[in-house]
Amino acid sequence: MSEYNKTLMITGGAGFIGSHLVRLFVNKYPAYRIINLDALTYAGNLENLRDVESAPNYIFEKGDITDQDAMDELFNRYNFDAVIHLAAESHVDRSIADPLAFVKTNVVGTCTLLNVGRKHWSGKEEGKLFYHVSTDEVFGSLGKEGYFTESSPYDPRSPYSASKAASDHFVMAYHHTYGLPTIISNCSNNYGSHHFPEKLIPLMINNIKTNRPLPVYGKGENVRDWLYVDDHALAIDLIFHKGRIGEKYNIGGFNEWKNIDIVHLLCSIMDKKLGRPPGESAKLISFVKDRPGHDMRYAIDPTKLNKELGWKPSLQFEEGLEKTVDWYLQNEIWVKQVTSGEYQHYYEKQYHK
Ligand code: NAD
Ligand code: DAU
Repeated sequence: MSEYNKTLMITGGAGFIGSHLVRLFVNKYPAYRIINLDALTYAGNLENLRDVESAPNYIFEKGDITDQDAMDELFNRYNFDAVIHLAAESHVDRSIADPLAFVKTNVVGTCTLLNVGRKHWSGKEEGKLFYHVSTDEVFGSLGKEGYFTESSPYDPRSPYSASKAASDHFVMAYHHTYGLPTIISNCSNNYGSHHFPEKLIPLMINNIKTNRPLPVYGKGENVRDWLYVDDHALAIDLIFHKGRIGEKYNIGGFNEWKNIDIVHLLCSIMDKKLGRPPGESAKLISFVKDRPGHDMRYAIDPTKLNKELGWKPSLQFEEGLEKTVDWYLQNEIWVKQVTSGEYQHYYEKQYHK
């Protein structure tokens, strides 16, 4: 008899959201054995999990979700009760430069896991769960009005969102065709600590700190709906335990911001924290060529999650952003580590082409 009452694989646990989720589950559920499966791509970093790595209920396994034999061996070894699947290529700009990498990881990788899950759980579905973590970008782009609900039609417009949409469809197909017990959640933009500085908020924080231009795509009018990463992790926790099999849940906090307004807000927070005169950091703003096919607006309607499971975000944006800036200022070594090497090549290609 195992000393644990559940064995759970979290894929992509060394990444931004995955590391927050692993930390939450390892600390909150000592009776769960948590296996973090991650390929440690440029976006995966075990430094993100230093504080939990010696916990008795935590195990790290390096592996690639597209490797069927390796996934099969892990299912054999650990006899998982559940998978929470976050591993993915996650950056839209990289998907524009290299779409096939996204097809491989997000589509083929997800299907590989679904196949292995089906093989091991067939006839023993009771109590099992394949939880797929997805994005609001699968619904496409909104105009000034309206929100994405769980029944909004899929309309992905970037290679990243097309690959995530395909993965969602495969998850639903495995549920309907083979009875695999699945749940999907689609979340809006996350922000917080350990966010790789290729994404808007950490990139701007890093560039403000180091006095480099702040590259705002187009006119900066595009709108994103921002959620603190720990609120996303808490929503996943709730859905994992109380969500209904076969369902989808949208996660978001009614917190829409134009990109340019976020950049100004970050500049003013950082002017204060760095002792710069008001307006100093904003002089770094530089409007650059727009992202091809740039989605105008995302906005999530989280009513189902709120009504069914009682979820609400805990933090106001300004408070979350201050905490985030403080973390980056206090963790210069982390930033230096992740921005050396590959990041320099990426940055050069993306912003100086
Ligand atoms: P991230 O890029 O920070 O982390 C992805 C992780 O997956 C990394 O640790 C990486 O090493 C790992 N990985 C990549 N390819 C792999 C492979 N083939 N095999 C095993 N591991 C692999 O991503 P994130 O921002 O933390 O996003 C996590 C998930 O949440 C993704 O599925 C993403 O689509 C989804 N999501 C992200 C956001 C957001 O705002 N960041 C919002 C909604 C949904
Ligand atoms: O909506 C959820 C999605 O949010 C997740 O599924 C993705 O994994 C995640 O990367 C994020 O996608 P976005 O494309 O919205 O995030 P990003 O941080 O790349 O960009 C946010 C906005 O800022 C977007 O409108 C593009 C703009 N931007 C981004 C960068 C990196 C800039 O203006 N300049 C930049 O340098």
